[in-house]
This record gives sequence, C-alpha cells and structure tokens, in this order.
Amino acid sequence: MRKARYSAAKIGDILEDCGKVLPLGDDGGSCAVFFHDGKYYALGSLCPHQNASLQDAPVDDQGQVVCLRHGYRFDLKSGDCTTVGGYGLPTFETTIENGEIIVSVWEYD
Ligand code: FES
Repeated sequence: MRKARYSAAKIGDILEDCGKVLPLGDDGGSCAVFFHDGKYYALGSLCPHQNASLQDAPVDDQGQVVCLRHGYRFDLKSGDCTTVGGYGLPTFETTIENGEIIVSVWEYD
C-alpha cells in the first residue's frame, strides 16, 4: 500500500460547516471536506446508511456531520455514527499547503 496525496480544493472553496464532495484522483474516488472550528476534515462522501451524498451536509455545534436524508450524525474527527451504532465514515488526513487542502489516502499499489 502507499499513501497517495491529492490536492482536493483551495481553502476558500470550503464554506464553514457545509460539506463539499470533491474527487480524489482520476479513478472515481471522492471525499467530503468540511471546515469546522478552524480545521479542515475529510471523510467518506457517502452516508453509510443508504448512500446519500454528503454534499451540503451541515455540521452541528457538536462537530457532527448531519446527513440530509435521514439525519444520522457522524463525528467529524472519528467518522463514528453517533445516532446508531455500527455505522461510520472513513476519515482521511488533511494538511494545508500553499492554500490548498491536501487529502492523504492509503491506496493499494
Ligand atoms: S442515508 Fe444518511 S441517514 Fe439515511
């Protein structure tokens, strides 16, 4: 496996507490990027309940992403579902470099 790094967006492209789904590379991968309380987070782009996109999903004041379809909530840091056990979103490392949000993903060679 190797760690792939993708420039997902410019920092000004992400509104506070509003998810933005962005492509990762050219193979159809994607993530949802959030800006909350001064930090950027990248999680899986589809809700694991019934695969709703997290595009425009809001973040509540507890730092939880709220799926717009049925309201399940996910912790921004861990990806864990706080509404129902057994669900979770993958989380990805983010760094800021020269005004770009870099998302790192482990991929198979
Ligand atoms: S699809 Fe997200 S909560 Fe149901």
